[in-house]
Amino acid sequence: MTAKAQLGPTDLMFPIPAALIACGDRDYQNVLTVAWIGMVDSQTVGIGLLKNSYSLGIIREKQAFSVNIPPTKLLEAVDYCGIASGRSADKWAATGLTARTDTASGVPIVAECPVNLECRLLREIELENLVLLLGKITETYVDADKVTLVGGQPRIDTASLDPIVFFAVADEYWSLGRKLGDAFVVGRALLP
Ligand SMILES: Cc1cc2nc3c(=O)[nH]c(=O)nc-3n(C[C@H](O)[C@H](O)[C@H](O)COP(=O)(O)O)c2cc1C
Repeated sequence: MTAKAQLGPTDLMFPIPAALIACGDRDYQNVLTVAWIGMVDSQTVGIGLLKNSYSLGIIREKQAFSVNIPPTKLLEAVDYCGIASGRSADKWAATGLTARTDTASGVPIVAECPVNLECRLLREIELENLVLLLGKITETYVDADKVTLVGGQPRIDTASLDPIVFFAVADEYWSLGRKLGDAFVVGRALLP
């Protein structure tokens, strides 16, 4: 057995996506980068927002946000959106990213991201330095050239999404590797 080094409590959870959260309405929009993010169930996302982030107040006011999955070619913009604050910067102008507000709720989505989840704020859980926001996904937008309908079911060209993967404990961005197999299928080899 390999010896284990014990590092204490760390955020060594890998891989996690670096996502863009957009907030606001049809008149004003802001965007920030998050990596404390995950699916809670198939229609619910959880994001951890620092209490001092400018976006938190906007999300609370509008009761909505969008989760946008950026491709690797947006790396510089993604890092910038995690350094600059909408309090003092227009992140759209600085990055060239486009806020689309032709969504059902009017909450902005990032046009250059191939996947966008429109969410309604469901619940807040207050923690020490941050607030865990639970969002109910009300619509999913995917670039049409990355989806085909097979037997009425959407099939997404996974490789074309090319998401940015964040390795928090070393502050590094990575990209995805190759497909390994089909979920709920490869393990069947071990079924009795
Ligand atoms: C890779 C990366 C991941 C981040 N993850 C989070 C996060 O999960 N939650 C959070 O509140 N801030 C996170 N941040 C920091 C915010 O994006 C940053 O504080 C931002 O300036 C807040 O923008 P705002 O003030 O316009 O809301 C992250 C930054 C980077 C670069």
